[in-house]
Amino acid sequence: MLSDGVERLFSLASLLGLLLLISSNAILVLGQQQAQQQVCPEQNVIAPCICTVKKNGLDILCETTDLVHITKSLGTLKDKSPIIFYLKLRHNNLPKLQGFVFLALDIRHLTIHNSSLAAIEESALSSLGKGLTQLDVSLNQMKTVPSLALKHLFHLLILNLNHNKITVLHNNAFDGLDTLEILTLYENKINTIEPEAFRGIEKKLKRLNLGGNELTAVPQKALSILDNLKKLEVQENKIKTIREGDFAGLENLDSLILAHNMITAVPANVFSHLTLLNSLELEGNKIVNIDKDAFKGLEENLQYLRLGDNNIHAIPSEALRPLHRLRHLDLRNNNISVINDDAFTGYGDSLTFLNLQKNDIKILPSMIFENLNSLENNPLVCSCELTWFPKLLQELKNRDDEMAQKKKPVCHMSVENREYYVQAMPLEKMHCAGLQTDGAGLNLLDNGVLLMWTLLLVVLGTVNMHDVMMMFLCTF
Ligand SMILES: *[C@@H]1O[C@H](CO)[C@@H](O)[C@H](O)[C@H]1NC(C)=O
Ligand SMILES: *[C@@H]1O[C@H](CO)[C@@H](O)[C@H](O)[C@H]1NC(C)=O
Repeated sequence: MLSDGVERLFSLASLLGLLLLISSNAILVLGQQQAQQQVCPEQNVIAPCICTVKKNGLDILCETTDLVHITKSLGTLKDKSPIIFYLKLRHNNLPKLQGFVFLALDIRHLTIHNSSLAAIEESALSSLGKGLTQLDVSLNQMKTVPSLALKHLFHLLILNLNHNKITVLHNNAFDGLDTLEILTLYENKINTIEPEAFRGIEKKLKRLNLGGNELTAVPQKALSILDNLKKLEVQENKIKTIREGDFAGLENLDSLILAHNMITAVPANVFSHLTLLNSLELEGNKIVNIDKDAFKGLEENLQYLRLGDNNIHAIPSEALRPLHRLRHLDLRNNNISVINDDAFTGYGDSLTFLNLQKNDIKILPSMIFENLNSLENNPLVCSCELTWFPKLLQELKNRDDEMAQKKKPVCHMSVENREYYVQAMPLEKMHCAGLQTDGAGLNLLDNGVLLMWTLLLVVLGTVNMHDVMMMFLCTF
């Protein structure tokens, strides 16, 4: 009786196992069916395009061909309706994208790059609305935003129109792109942005790149509705003046890039609406004047400020003082000759990076770096610009300076990926000979920097040695 029961139990178990086996097979078959849709056509069928299978769908690349061949290749996919995760058309001759070219194709990321594209017919993209999340039409001949063709792309997240020939952004140019988060228009010829240009994309837009264009002023009206924007790039334009109110409305902005324009002054309150701003880049302008209230409004969040490659004559201490969160201050390559006693008072405590390279510093009070306690011990890079350092240390040694004995700075040699004591840098491997004539090189020795380092080391001897600091010297 007992063995009978056990036997029955076993057969029940094997039946269950069989059932399990069948059902898992069924799942397998189902899975295969799904995978089958993601099979590439034979290469000779899809040529001149190339198809590969990726995790999320097919990846199709068509290069140096034309619309006739591309249409024929894509035609081989239509009856199978696979997910085309990437369709990349590059270096082709596609002056015009005709209506319905992508009909019955499920494309998620579409790239038409460097293909002489000048026009996109209104119905060319309309069938892609339900699936397309990224559209890249960079390096083409577009003279205007193809607004009518774009307006059905109501799942688009990223639109890249870089390197085209767009001159004007008309009102409602992007209307319909309700979900757009990233819009990039780098290196066009934009000189005019109409006040309602960004109407329709204001709710979701997080990043906007208007760099490398021909703007002569901040397009204040158009920008003012972008209250979710986090990053705004307007570098490499021709902006001469920035004014109070220019950035009104951009209340969530985290990063503002105004580098490489022609800005001469930073007036009072110009950034006052940007209370969440973390990073401000103003390098490569012609800034001479910074108002004492220039950075008003930025007190609570600004951590990165780049003012290098301008024409600033003194550390703008008054303007910087309220920035008690500032960590990174770059003032390289200006015309700063004097650093006052209180140059870093008020904001110096939070700095971890300070770049004063390529200035003309001649006068430096001895107690200046007392406020810079938190500068990190930045690793130096072994470079020809450091060759003065061993000399300095030798000098200090000759003067029997206690600091010099203690302090053995190390630099990193990237070619060998190892560190050297600066005193023992392998000069012969560094090809520093002949650089004496280079103003950016060893000449630094003669003016401010040598003096600064001397004083710095002296000061350090009197300051808390736990937070030993190093000025950061960039190699470029
Ligand atoms: C653009 O495509 C052409 C061929 O149509 C090619 O010769 C050229 O090198 C490409 N340019 C870039 C920047 O890729
Ligand atoms: C730098 O400042 C000095 C005076 O401090 C001035 O004589 C000189 O012209 C300035 N250089 C430039 C390039 O503006």
